[in-house]
Amino acid sequence: MPNAVIVGTQWGDEGKAKVIDYLTERSDVIIRFQGGANAGHTVIVDGKKFVFHLVPSGIMSPGKACIVGNGVVFDCEQFLREVDELRENGISVDSRLFVSDLAHLVLPYHKAQDNAAESNMGQGKIGTTGRGIGPTYSDKASRIGIRVGDMSDWDLFTQKFKANFTQKKNLIETVYKTSFDLDQNSILDTYKGIRERMLPFINDTAHFIFDATRKGMRLLFEGAQGTFLDIDHGTYPFVTSSNTLSGYACPGCGIGPTSIHHVIGIVKTYTTRVGNGPFPTELSDSVGEKLRQDGGEFGATTGRPRRCGWFDSVMVRKSAQLNGLTRLALTKLDVLNNLDELKICTHYEIDGKKIDQFPSTYQKLERAVPIYESMEGWKCSISGCKNLGDLPSKARAYIQKIQELCYNIPVLIVSIGPDRNETFEVEPL
Ligand code: GDP
Ligand code: IMO
Ligand code: MG
Repeated sequence: MPNAVIVGTQWGDEGKAKVIDYLTERSDVIIRFQGGANAGHTVIVDGKKFVFHLVPSGIMSPGKACIVGNGVVFDCEQFLREVDELRENGISVDSRLFVSDLAHLVLPYHKAQDNAAESNMGQGKIGTTGRGIGPTYSDKASRIGIRVGDMSDWDLFTQKFKANFTQKKNLIETVYKTSFDLDQNSILDTYKGIRERMLPFINDTAHFIFDATRKGMRLLFEGAQGTFLDIDHGTYPFVTSSNTLSGYACPGCGIGPTSIHHVIGIVKTYTTRVGNGPFPTELSDSVGEKLRQDGGEFGATTGRPRRCGWFDSVMVRKSAQLNGLTRLALTKLDVLNNLDELKICTHYEIDGKKIDQFPSTYQKLERAVPIYESMEGWKCSISGCKNLGDLPSKARAYIQKIQELCYNIPVLIVSIGPDRNETFEVEPL
């Protein structure tokens, strides 16, 4: 398979990990390029479920190389928990799982800062995952961050850590007026042990990827979050702190754009969002609740109930533009099995005008009233379907409508259940 980037086209949790696990068979190196342990990526193979926050979702396939790129903000404690779980399940990660020396470390004070900042925001809360993501990217941009590679030199790490610790303590106690109960020495003690465990994973991964490309190996880039959580093009300020778009795969792991051949947009066949911010097609009625229950729409990272709503083609069209999508992968079609009626948002009405373009500010988006087209539900199980032809005609019509509304981008994959084998391909790459 050509090199491909996988991105979420909505607000995250589209089923990216499932598709990455599925496509790993045809790739050699799987690379996470942004975000951190705010991501919750679920892979289910033969009924066994893993939720990854940092380890790339390709790890379930033996022998494939998995890289955490420099664009990721990296929480060693979470990473090592995932490594332990994999090893306990007999999945070897040795000599095939690597972490960029240039990735920035999420340290305990970042999580404290994240939570203190949120509790100071009152009504304007973002609803972050509390995983220290924003503060770590802020430190990176402020050039006071500590990188994974800094752990190789313990004295340098200690010196940087102490300087930052004092600054964060002042900020949290004085500005946020929140108690700061972290102990510098005990964190350093813990990190001494963590450092020993981390050293074998630390690598110049940009070079590793370059070498892999020269050997003809195929690259699969794993995005986290979703298009509308992108810090520039998302529903700012209700976004995450990284660029989630496909283009960021380049600086996020150290390759040029010519190494990307395809961009696959993961499209949930309805819409969900965790955290605060506008959501035009949100359903606060029993249909929304049904989607949440039937789709198991509870955050893989925080367990929060996800907000649910109808499929919004205005969003996915914008996502196609921003990411340069070349294929769509449609997920969770089975969740719609039992609905009498399905609605698809084709346009918005904003200030009395019908528009088909996603507005660039969240204030405008808050005033958007969705315009729907209604379709009949298929009202039966689709489990066991192996191709488009096996689906009931009403399910095929629903897929076709989505595709038509999204610039007729070819559908690569349809996912009809959470397990790896509940997947079929429409137009292979
Ligand atoms: P990601 O963050 O985009 O990787 O997605 P998450 O793992 O956070 O959330 C997707 C959820 O839907 C997980 O619980 C998956 O196991 C599940 N899932 C993925 N694809 C399908 C599907 O086609 N049907 C159903 N019913 N569940 C799915
Ligand atoms: P995956 O990769 C869904 C949301 C949070 C919050 C906002 C900012 O599993 O799709 P942050 O902790 O990043 O500062 O929170 O972003 N968010 C996600 N929502 N899926 C995710 O990741 C998310 N990662 C962050 O809920 O609204
Ligand atoms: Mg998720």
